[in-house]
Formats: sequence, structure tokens, C-alpha cells
Amino acid sequence: MIDASTELYGIIGNPVRHSLSPILHNKAFRTIGLNAVYLAFEVKNLKETIRGIRELGIRGVSVTHPFKTEVISLLDEVDVVVEEIGAVNTIANEGGKLIGYNTDWRGAMEALEEKIDMNGKRVVLLGAGGAARAIGFGLKGRGCQVMIVNRSFDKALNLAKDLGCTYSLPSSIEDLEADVIINATSVGMSPNDGKSPLPKKVLKEGMAVMDIVYQPLQTKLLREAEEMGCQTINGLEMLTYQGAAQLEIWTGKRPEIEEIKEGLLQKLKRKEI
Ligand code: ATR
Repeated sequence: MIDASTELYGIIGNPVRHSLSPILHNKAFRTIGLNAVYLAFEVKNLKETIRGIRELGIRGVSVTHPFKTEVISLLDEVDVVVEEIGAVNTIANEGGKLIGYNTDWRGAMEALEEKIDMNGKRVVLLGAGGAARAIGFGLKGRGCQVMIVNRSFDKALNLAKDLGCTYSLPSSIEDLEADVIINATSVGMSPNDGKSPLPKKVLKEGMAVMDIVYQPLQTKLLREAEEMGCQTINGLEMLTYQGAAQLEIWTGKRPEIEEIKEGLLQKLKRKEI
């Protein structure tokens, strides 16, 4: 029941109408019994938006494209990890003070570690954008040997330098020596779901393959990985875990992961987004 005590949370981004975060968080609020609602705000002026968050006392905000980096300078404090990753995906309003966090790297690591012991693993990370940077940071923290593979050479080089790892162009890959492959590009995302970021021949039995794309849930990469006998982790896993980590920051409570995943799956199956 929405009443005068209901607390407001939301996501800011542009575009944002496709976001699954409102489904995820409203379901989580219900399962942990919080009087709160979570809405999507498609905004243009970030500075005014941050002023609005302060003035309205919005308790917590998810931040998505294109504001994850720009928002840092508008906050009162950021978590130490944010300084390394250079991106905020979560704002907590703690008594009027806006504090920035990043839960993308935690989401990716928890999704992986639910199935695999990641310590010291050889990982090929596809992509060099914001998502790849956050995941790469998490991988380095587990002592993984990371290789960045990205279409644009300069971005691959920059991220590899920051992470202290190796890099390669997709065109120069004939064979991959890897335990884990992670797609952190948008290749394979609907409506371009006929594409895979890697040729099938480099996928080998025993590898684990994770895709951050969740629409479609089974991307071409994951389908081919399954056909080759690889273990697969779909994009819903990382999304769910990064959302659970946000909830924990905002409320100190951990939602039931399986219930949230189920809610998101139903939404995806209805193809309403
Ligand atoms: P995000 O913050 O979600 O990571 P991003 O910073 O725009 O988004 O990064 C998108 C990533 O997907 C990049 O690594 C991009 O490659 P480039 O650095 O070469 O642009 C990759 N990507 C997007 N479309 C691609 C395509 N059609 N083929 C190969 N890589 C693609």
C-alpha cells in the first residue's frame, strides 16, 4: 500500500524504458517487506536530476547509460572501488549525503562464482567499454589472468594498461587458451541476435562462457557454447546479482535471489520490454 511513508527509489538514464530494474527492485521490496517503490526516470539534465534527488529525498538511485561516469563529480562521496573503475551505477542517499557505488563488478563476480571457483583462472574478456572495465576490475581482484579482446584497438590497449593485462584484436584470434570467456560487448543483443562476438570454433568443451546480454536470454554465443559442451551463464545472472548488491547497500537486506530471477524471467518471457 503506497502511503505518506512510502520511500522512493529509481533508475536514471536515457533511454531507460527497456530497463528491467523496476521489475527487479519492486519485486525485491515486496519479498523483504519494505514500504518502497522504484520507478524509471528518463532524464536529460543530470545536474538538475541530482538536485531533484536531494530535494525530494529519493533514497536510492540506479544509474545507467549515459551517466555512469559524468555523475561522479556531482556526488558528495564515492566508494574507493569507483575511483578505480571510473563509473557509478548506484547512488545511496544517506541522510542527505549522496554516495556513489559500483555493483556491476560484484554482480559479475557473484554470477561467475556461483558456478566456478575464479581464483587464478585464465579469462578472455570481450569488450573494453564500461561493463568490461567493471568486470575486469573484479577479475583482477581474484588474481585471474585476463586478456581483453576488443574491436577498437585503442580502447583495448587503454583498458589492458589500466588492468595490467594482455589484449588482442578479434581478427587475430584463431585459438583461445582460456578457462572462462565473458562477453561484455553488446554483440548478440536483440534485434542483432543473429550475431556472436566469437567464431564457434574457438569454443571448447570444459570452458565456461558468460554473456552480459540478457535479451535474448540465450544469445548465439551461449547457444554455440552449449553445443560445444561449455558451461554457460546468462545475462540475467549478473543483472540479478548487481541488483541484489544495490538493495543491500540501500537497505542492509539481501533479497531472495531465486525469487527475483523468476520475476525477471517471467517478464522476459512475456516479451513486453
Ligand atoms: P558499456 O558501458 O555497456 O560497456 P560501451 O562503453 O558503449 O557500453 O561499450 C560497448 C562495447 O561493445 C565496446 O567494447 C564495443 O567495442 P568498441 O570499443 O570497438 O566500440 C563493443 N561493441 C559494440 N558493438 C559492437 C560490434 N558490432 N562489434 C564488436 N564490438 C562491439
